[in-house]
Amino acid sequence: MKIVVLNGSPKGDISVTMQYVAYLKKKFPEHSFETVNVAHEIEKIEKDSVCFAAILDRIRSADLVLWAFPLYYLLVCAQYKRFIELVFERGAQDAFAGKYAASLSTSIHYADMIAHDYIHAVSDDLGMKYLGAYSAEMHDLLDAGERERLVTFAALTFAGVEKMIPVQRETSPLVPPSLAYVPGNGQAAVQPGKKKVVILTDDDGSSNNLTAMVARLTAAFSAKAEVINLHDIDIKGPCLGCCRCAYDNTCVYTDGYVDFYRDRLATADILIFAGAVRDRYLSSKWKQFFDRSFFKGHTPGLGGKQIGFAIAGSLNQIPCLKEALVMWADSGRCTARFVTDEAATSGELDALLDAMAGRLVQGAEVGYTPPHLFYAVGGHKIFRDNIYGGMRFVFQADYRYYREHKMFDFPQSDLKTRLTNAVMMLLTKSKTVREKVYGDSRHHMIAPFAPVLRDD
Ligand SMILES: Cc1cc2nc3c(=O)[nH]c(=O)nc-3n(C[C@H](O)[C@H](O)[C@H](O)COP(=O)(O)O)c2cc1C
Repeated sequence: MKIVVLNGSPKGDISVTMQYVAYLKKKFPEHSFETVNVAHEIEKIEKDSVCFAAILDRIRSADLVLWAFPLYYLLVCAQYKRFIELVFERGAQDAFAGKYAASLSTSIHYADMIAHDYIHAVSDDLGMKYLGAYSAEMHDLLDAGERERLVTFAALTFAGVEKMIPVQRETSPLVPPSLAYVPGNGQAAVQPGKKKVVILTDDDGSSNNLTAMVARLTAAFSAKAEVINLHDIDIKGPCLGCCRCAYDNTCVYTDGYVDFYRDRLATADILIFAGAVRDRYLSSKWKQFFDRSFFKGHTPGLGGKQIGFAIAGSLNQIPCLKEALVMWADSGRCTARFVTDEAATSGELDALLDAMAGRLVQGAEVGYTPPHLFYAVGGHKIFRDNIYGGMRFVFQADYRYYREHKMFDFPQSDLKTRLTNAVMMLLTKSKTVREKVYGDSRHHMIAPFAPVLRDD
């Protein structure tokens, strides 16, 4: 069997993910593995049509395409995303159609499901037969049990290809919004007062609706919003995954990104991200923006802001994109509001955009930040444990930040709870105490709230 591996690591061969592929190669000598360093070579692939065509030929000759990638900012990295865009832009879907596909990622399991859902949906859109995902924690290969699990996954996947099993498409084809948006004249604009509003967009003129939505929003804030186009920022390139920033938050690039992020975005009270759907995410330009913010490591970047997402495209049909944006906002404890052009009329979209502007200003005025969702609560524990543990000496800036902000909030440090548990576990060995504790657990659970309800 011929397996073509599409390597999504910006590090090329010197990649953790590729060690997993190398292991599979060793364990399955009867199959041939051909790796294409898609993310590492993206500039050449984009510029050199012969190179792009040669990759397509290799895919045409494959029995199985393995999407192998590291997680980058809740998805694949911008370079890999760009490759996927090129396939659609250049109408090269036929090379993939009918092929079996599977995905293999390495990460610390933060949002790995979103990335695999994305690749699954893209595979479906390419007409591929997607057999499944394998999400490894980046160190799993060091563990004999995990190596066995990986080999079993591969064996099952290869068997599916050999037996030519049927595979059902699990995502519906996207139906683009039909609205040609023309903003109306009447508008009751809001006054942002002293609140700084920034509308960040990647508008390149290819989506009329996006251009019109940005114009409407600008007017909705009484023309007091600053509009920043990502194409105008001096961003020399995508994140390379080098992790040099991990020591002291200094990025290896000396372009305009960090100043733009710190001086123009981080200072805003209200941030609107305006973009158009491209395949099953926003553009790779947007992805580059998110990836490059990794210079902040695992510390909150744009925390506490009122965030609006103004999206042209079928966002509400793309759960992985919606989830990625919600999760991003949640991790910064930001209020996130969404408006898309999936509206019936221009008038309706006018009203939705105006209402979003109003609600964002209201939220900023009272300083409302929502409680965290599962994403941030779970994410915090993943980062906390890794930064305290195995990632500490590399991610020293994170370690300092977590220590200074008392974010190493391990339950072991809570002496009162530890003492209560020790005493109660001893006492509940007695049947009488047990009956009292479990017999009336509903009242025990609400008892601590009584003083708050009485006094506050
Ligand atoms: C810019 C950047 C973003 C990352 N984002 C995530 C993430 O969202 N979730 C996660 O679990 N790991 C994330 N990671 C960790 C990598 O996925 C992990 O280290 C991976 O094993 C690297 O694989 P590679 O050496 O093949 O590139 C990120 C790493 C970098 C450099």
